[in-house]
Amino acid sequence: MSTTRAVCTEPLEVGSDIAGEPYSISVLKEGYSLAQPDGSTRADGTISLLQGPKIILVDTGGPWDRDFLLDQLKKKGLDPGDINIVVGTHGHSDHIGNLGLFPEATLVVGCDMSQGDRYLPNQLAEGRPHPIDDHVSILPTPGHTGRDVSVLVTGTSVGVVLVAGDLFENSADEDTWRELSENPAVQEVSRQGALRTADVIIPGHGPPFRVRRHPIKGI
Ligand SMILES: [Fe+2]
Repeated sequence: MSTTRAVCTEPLEVGSDIAGEPYSISVLKEGYSLAQPDGSTRADGTISLLQGPKIILVDTGGPWDRDFLLDQLKKKGLDPGDINIVVGTHGHSDHIGNLGLFPEATLVVGCDMSQGDRYLPNQLAEGRPHPIDDHVSILPTPGHTGRDVSVLVTGTSVGVVLVAGDLFENSADEDTWRELSENPAVQEVSRQGALRTADVIIPGHGPPFRVRRHPIKGI
């Protein structure tokens, strides 16, 4: 007899703010991806803000979000210069379109980490997590591109949160994520790891969702 686990997902019902100690998380913009009748797709990436010992922005939306992002930060009492770290989960324009607003922050784009023109050594590309502090870690989660990262946050009111970029498009992407993936086999491994670790996932193009893990007895 063996025990296995089934994973299902369900919407998170806490609005756009997740309380936490020491880090709270605000979804400043919920990403979307909408197929258009002419064959194009309208899409924008989720923008998330972590507020705690450090102020961390995870993804910046597209360049068209510039004024929206500045306005959202202002509503939180923040200027761009207050952001300590900006993490771009991967190098697609709808996720890193506003890096230029944050020249003073430590910038992480995929596995590249820089302060100004100084590039910092790290082992994300070798598959090693990069801790920011005891509660926030940058994790390598490749597959959608070769060098995606996600941000893991512990100590929130909903448990362990993974801000996942396009590792997950949305809570119901099982039929769609592979066609957007540079390496589906690698991404599948990254996704399974995320589903084992996170209580809540903030995906790149949809609202946050809760991960439920159910022990099942089998033969
Ligand atoms: Fe993407």
